[in-house]
Amino acid sequence: MPTARSTLLRTELPIIQAPMAGVQGSALAIAVSEAGGLGSLPAAMLSPEALERELLALTAGTRRPWNVNFFCHRPPAPDEAREAAWRRALAPFYAELGLDLAAAAAAPARRPFDAATADLVEPFRPPVVSFHFGLPAPELVARVKGWGSVVLSSATTVEEARWLEAHGADAVIAQGLEAGGHRGHFLSDDVTAQLGLAALVPQLAAAVRVPVIAAGAIADAAGVRAALALGAAGVQVGTAFLLCPEATTSAVHRAALVSEAARHTALTTLFSGRPARGIVNRLMRELGPMNPAAPAFPLAGGALLPLRAAAERQGRGDFSPLWAGQNVGGCRAVPAAELTRALAAGLSPR
Ligand SMILES: Cc1cc2nc3c(=O)[nH]c(=O)nc-3n(C[C@H](O)[C@H](O)[C@H](O)COP(=O)(O)O)c2cc1C
Repeated sequence: MPTARSTLLRTELPIIQAPMAGVQGSALAIAVSEAGGLGSLPAAMLSPEALERELLALTAGTRRPWNVNFFCHRPPAPDEAREAAWRRALAPFYAELGLDLAAAAAAPARRPFDAATADLVEPFRPPVVSFHFGLPAPELVARVKGWGSVVLSSATTVEEARWLEAHGADAVIAQGLEAGGHRGHFLSDDVTAQLGLAALVPQLAAAVRVPVIAAGAIADAAGVRAALALGAAGVQVGTAFLLCPEATTSAVHRAALVSEAARHTALTTLFSGRPARGIVNRLMRELGPMNPAAPAFPLAGGALLPLRAAAERQGRGDFSPLWAGQNVGGCRAVPAAELTRALAAGLSPR
């Protein structure tokens, strides 16, 4: 029987609460860490001031291990032709909602991890730092490891897992194609090369020496045990935490998660420019989920903001990213500590 304790993460339970930018802050992370899992703070959409505030709250809220997560994409060069095509594609929706396309805002900031961020984070000595979309430059990885953090990043293929191991990751998160939110790929953007979890975990476990953490559609204790049986050393669970009171998931997102619509998720580039899995909504149906007009990550989201806000005011998620994995069966509106303990049910004590 798999044991509960995670030696690498130094947590009581081999359960990581997936960092989920835009739907949670330190409160969810604290609750999970206090319950014996590894709580995660997503930093991708936080300003430096907000990140510092959240790190202060997190370190005041728990003395147990925790994780802070960053994106490491390369910000794209602006492409006016693509931006114009995108606005043309959105114009009918603007007209329908009586909105002014000229007033569309810039995309929400998504900062990649850089030296200034490292300066801000270093005094907090995070027990774990995880990255999405690869790893930052080698000198930054060396800095993070030098101050004592365990470094994690997501792989969607065997090649990415090998690359992460070779570039300093202490463990690799096997992100199955079922997973909610952004795909973590960074070597190839061919999503057809990416594997479902039951294929990915054993292949990664055979390909790398570092521990493999399973992510994607794991939503209950049976799913956790199955992932460990496939060769994972731990699991990373996202979607199942979205209804917890400590998450900041919006009302339309919560409503979608408990609706019939949640049975149908798809990969889409419409909301940010990078493929991410969410519940199929009106925008995805009408423009096609992978429309090439959507500007490069993270620029696509900007022109959607007014549409999103107007529809959400009417209680509709027609233009909102309703991120979710393929298994919403574990989403429960219970405190995150209760959910964490339920996920670990049946694991033998250390
Ligand atoms: C709402 C949402 C937001 C996410 N945001 C991030 C993020 O900021 N950083 C990250 O590394 N992964 C992010 N992910 C992906 C998770 O790390 C993980 O791969 C995924 O949640 C696992 O699949 P599951 O949602 O089916 O449990 C997000 C996932 C969701 C559902």
